[in-house]
Amino acid sequence: MRKVVLITGASSGIGLALCNRLLAEDEELHLCLACRNLSKAGAVRDALLASHPSAEVSIVQMDVSSLRSVVQGAKEVKRKFQRLDYLYLNAGIMPNPQLNFKAFFFGIFSRNVVHVFSTAEGLLTQSDKVTADGFQEVFETNLFGHFILIRELEPLLCHSDSSSQLIWTSSRNAKKSNFSLEDIQHSKGLEPYSSSKYATDLLNVALNRNFNQKARLVSEIQKLTIKGLYSSVICPGVVLTNLTYGILPPFVWTLLLPLIWLIRFFANAFTLTPYNGAEALVWLFHQKPESLNPLTKYLSFTTGFGTNYVKGQKTGPWALLRDFSDLFWVALTLSCLCQHMDIDEDTAEKFYQTLLELEKSVRITMEKSDHPS
Ligand SMILES: NC(=O)c1ccc[n+]([C@@H]2O[C@H](COP(=O)([O-])OP(=O)(O)OC[C@H]3O[C@@H](n4cnc5c(N)ncnc54)[C@H](OP(=O)(O)O)[C@@H]3O)[C@@H](O)[C@H]2O)c1
Repeated sequence: MRKVVLITGASSGIGLALCNRLLAEDEELHLCLACRNLSKAGAVRDALLASHPSAEVSIVQMDVSSLRSVVQGAKEVKRKFQRLDYLYLNAGIMPNPQLNFKAFFFGIFSRNVVHVFSTAEGLLTQSDKVTADGFQEVFETNLFGHFILIRELEPLLCHSDSSSQLIWTSSRNAKKSNFSLEDIQHSKGLEPYSSSKYATDLLNVALNRNFNQKARLVSEIQKLTIKGLYSSVICPGVVLTNLTYGILPPFVWTLLLPLIWLIRFFANAFTLTPYNGAEALVWLFHQKPESLNPLTKYLSFTTGFGTNYVKGQKTGPWALLRDFSDLFWVALTLSCLCQHMDIDEDTAEKFYQTLLELEKSVRITMEKSDHPS
């Protein structure tokens, strides 16, 4: 039976590169492209089928910044498939990014210069807006729309014969100080992107706790063979896509490329191409999810000579030291221990419960507007 892989944001950038790379590894997959723009998605499907004729590629229309569209799209997915093996939660936005010039110049002269520029930490602010559903757009697109998608697709993801994997495209830009349980949508702050990616990391931890750990317990007690739903997060590195072209125009990136290639000998986070950025997404495709650490973020790296590799970023600083084995990275790590994922499981669980509450109230509102009394 063909494995079924659903990918959001498959129409460009890292999502599109992922589609090509997965089919290059396994032509027998069925890829389902969840995209908001049907004509773009159609062109992608035609190109994928032209280079991988024995693959199956289908399209589902879905705008993750609209909950009705997500629910509608999920219904179509449930009509088409009995089960999903992989769900890549990749669509994302960073609207109207503004460079913080003060932080930029401080960054150049700071001892954390490589870290600052490879994570954009503190360098970028964004102006967010409110969607038709009444949510902050970055929160709804990058996180909440995807959360509702998972909830809708649970019957296809949690099946008894084998496990399924959720794989999120998060970011090194996820920063604890930009997230607050009191303002989960980051409506009062200037870094909604960083907040939404930290929220993604938290949700990832909570999903593992609620799906595979609890599922294992239930199966032990009831002697059932319930397999878990596993969740992982990755960061693709700095990749030149429509998202990064919103920060600086393509010609500026082209001018900077020689410098970036040079920096890449020291900081492998500048993966640059969508193909390289997709490395951790493809790597996870091959892993047994039971063997993964739910508290680890998997990072794509590209060396100065263009070789791709993946490394895990764990929650504790000592784990981090083990990860970055060469001396340069150890020195860098010591100078910026803030690089670790910095997640605590209690906050993750509280956040998950808050999302469930929010989901409940959203569903009541949608129900009322569908059936006004
Ligand atoms: N580029 C980087 O350096 C970088 C670094 C860290 C993390 N990331 C993450 O990587 C992921 C992919 O981004 P990218 O760099 O490949 O950027 P991209 O080329 O702009 O791709 C973004 C994808 O998301 C889709 N999308 C955006 N809003 C959507 C919505 N409301 N509903 C459905 N689809 C929507 C886009 O669809 P359309 O084609 O219709 O616009 C596109 O397919 C994002 O989650 C981003 O945060 C990127």
